[in-house]
Amino acid sequence: MTGIYDHPWVYELACSFRDVPAETGVLLAWAAEHRTGEHRPGGPPATVLELAAGPAEHAREFARRGLAATALDLNPEMCAYAAGAAKRQGVELAVVRDDMTRFDLGRRFDLIVTMLDSTSHLMTLDAFVAHLRRAAAHLSPGGLYVMEMSHPRDRLGDEPTVSTGWSVERGGVRADVRWGEPSDRLDPVTQIADDHVTVTVEGRGEPLVIRDVVPYRFWSATELDAAVRLAGGLAVVAQYGDFGAGEDAVALTDPGAWRMITLLRAA
Ligand SMILES: C[S@@+](CC[C@H](N)C(=O)[O-])C[C@H]1O[C@@H](n2cnc3c(N)ncnc32)[C@H](O)[C@@H]1O
Repeated sequence: MTGIYDHPWVYELACSFRDVPAETGVLLAWAAEHRTGEHRPGGPPATVLELAAGPAEHAREFARRGLAATALDLNPEMCAYAAGAAKRQGVELAVVRDDMTRFDLGRRFDLIVTMLDSTSHLMTLDAFVAHLRRAAAHLSPGGLYVMEMSHPRDRLGDEPTVSTGWSVERGGVRADVRWGEPSDRLDPVTQIADDHVTVTVEGRGEPLVIRDVVPYRFWSATELDAAVRLAGGLAVVAQYGDFGAGEDAVALTDPGAWRMITLLRAA
């Protein structure tokens, strides 16, 4: 049986509500602000690694802007798609199939990013800490690791959001997405939910319906902080509630915050 991650073009279409160039611009602004180097501040990053990159949209955008970009993902379909898309777009992208808890690329990067809650695929504290240690081991001195997670309010607020639905259309192809159903429950002990996912695509041949169950591990802000301290080698330098830099920065505590974006600097 294949799941949503085995259909990279459908996944990319489903996630096309994002403004990837704008987010990439903010990631670069944060790197300029928070990265340090031998001569402070660290200046614009030259190398970037996207972890659990899926179709590697951000890595491709970094490459388009002249950075030496690498994308890593466990899923072979995602890796093949990312490499093919980069080739079609004429951008240089190194693609590595590996596990974000175990990779060893033998080199370091000025900037590492993990986007769109991909750390929710780290199911245990051991996996999370192993992941943070691998990220730390791949950062240049003063380098920055940016982790985008969903906002804890989604699961801990007065009205927990266990299900979301949205529609997108690109080039006449439409996707109706349901990520999580109201009956999906977060296990109060393991903090894992089996999110039922349905994506319906119309406008490209026969209508296509993909149904999947995607395990999701909820990480709270305080658990994240504790995992970072346990892992060592990284320090939290900022947290934001959305993509916005400078005077557009959104605090994690802002009522309008809807992401938990953590900036970690190599200690
Ligand atoms: C929600 S998708 C996000 C993809 C991408 N970060 C984005 O912003 O579109 C999660 C991705 O994590 C990958 N993944 C899950 N577990 C992984 C692991 N242990 N190591 C590397 N990649 C993993 C999946 O294959 C999938 O492509």
